[in-house]
Amino acid sequence: GYNACIFAYGQTGSGKSYSMMGTSDQKGIIPRLCDALFDEIVQSTDSETNFKVEVSYLEIYNEKVRDLLDPKGLMGGLLWRL
Ligand SMILES: Nc1ncnc2c1ncn2[C@@H]1O[C@H](COP(=O)(O)OP(=O)(O)O)[C@@H](O)[C@H]1O
Ligand SMILES: [Mg+2]
Repeated sequence: GYNACIFAYGQTGSGKSYSMMGTSDQKGIIPRLCDALFDEIVQSTDSETNFKVEVSYLEIYNEKVRDLLDPKGLMGGLLWRL
């Protein structure tokens, strides 16, 4: 399989979240990436091939890790299976 990481670094208010998520009419990196990834999977004609996609989306702020897919920390893990 493939592993990839997109890392956005910068001071608060510099546009990291905006660049990653964007808006509904100006999509950011994450929705564009998901569109492209799942387009590729849907186009696969090989019925023998299974696809498994796992993601995590986290923020490190003041040396604390926060799961942005589970901001309240109820799920107790960082890896999300789609
Ligand atoms: N390229 C951009 N165009 C328009 N608004 C932006 C852009 N980048 C950031 N913003 C706005 O600036 C503010 C701070 O950006 P944000 O992404 O939350 O910063 P960070 O996540 O780095 O703290 C937000 O209100 C965001 O909508
Ligand atoms: Mg942010």
